[in-house]
Amino acid sequence: MLHQPKVISVGSINADFQVRVDRRPEPGETLTGHHFARLSGGKAANVAFQAQQLGTPAQLLGCVGDDDLAEQALEPLRQIGVDLSGVNVAPDCPTGVSMINVPPGGAKGIVLAENANATWGPEALHNIVEVVRSAPSNSVLVYDVEVPEEVTKAAAEAAAERGFTRILDPSPANAVSDELLDLSNILLPNPVEAKKLSGIKVEDAPTAGRAAAALARGGAKTICIKLYTGGCVLCHNGVLHFLRAPNVDAVDTTGAGDVFAGVFATWLSKGNTVLEAARAASAASAYAVTQYGSQAGCPDNREVEARLGEVQLTPHDPNP
Ligand code: RIB
Repeated sequence: MLHQPKVISVGSINADFQVRVDRRPEPGETLTGHHFARLSGGKAANVAFQAQQLGTPAQLLGCVGDDDLAEQALEPLRQIGVDLSGVNVAPDCPTGVSMINVPPGGAKGIVLAENANATWGPEALHNIVEVVRSAPSNSVLVYDVEVPEEVTKAAAEAAAERGFTRILDPSPANAVSDELLDLSNILLPNPVEAKKLSGIKVEDAPTAGRAAAALARGGAKTICIKLYTGGCVLCHNGVLHFLRAPNVDAVDTTGAGDVFAGVFATWLSKGNTVLEAARAASAASAYAVTQYGSQAGCPDNREVEARLGEVQLTPHDPNP
């Protein structure tokens, strides 16, 4: 029997603690916030949640601690049906924690304590390689950089052996080795990460186009730079595409990049083209920023489809 391709998500699993603020605190200031919420988060967890939300089997590979925060992080994923059999529990270690503040306009600030995300033993590494090796054909691997690079490299190597698409979300904007870049065939940076990787300051669509073209290595890689104004600039097979997302009133950008990656991966796993996947991901992240919280902002198929027509291919030329 043929098995449906799945989305395998490798990276961080966190307990998110979110508070809304009317402005950012000054140095040394105690600021009163409101609407405190304990949520499930972590980039890989959010990606897996998004894929499963769209009806694609998702498997999460990551590490939690042996504390009550692990349940905060994992319970919503269990409820929706994400395969958690590849999640390791690190003894005597707290689960990863993100302290998130969300000001008006939604441009969140996050302080992350990696905790269990940084603890991967040889057995955990072996397990993720086995999971990738035994996954159905045409599965898609997605990974972030909130876990040690040896983890993502091992998963990406196993995925490359199977011929799976390997999607790197180079977030947060830490150093990424050339080796990991070489193993990845699709990169989804935001403007800050694109600058870190390319050396080109990304301020708008034309500069994003230049950075994407520089990172695409003559068309060998697909680069999709997510713009803060919504939409993205895609360089695929050496050709640039500019996708403009609908204007929305953003309230919280937390997890919008994970929604983008989760939808992109899901659409590829269903056999769509890269351009179709980028269009769906742009529509989905436009929805995500209108909701508070990462997983609460993951759209379902109906919500993605409803916004697809609002994403426009624009004719900007970065080198007029
Ligand atoms: O991308 C959003 C995620 O980043 C949050 O859920 C938080 O846990 C951090 O990892």
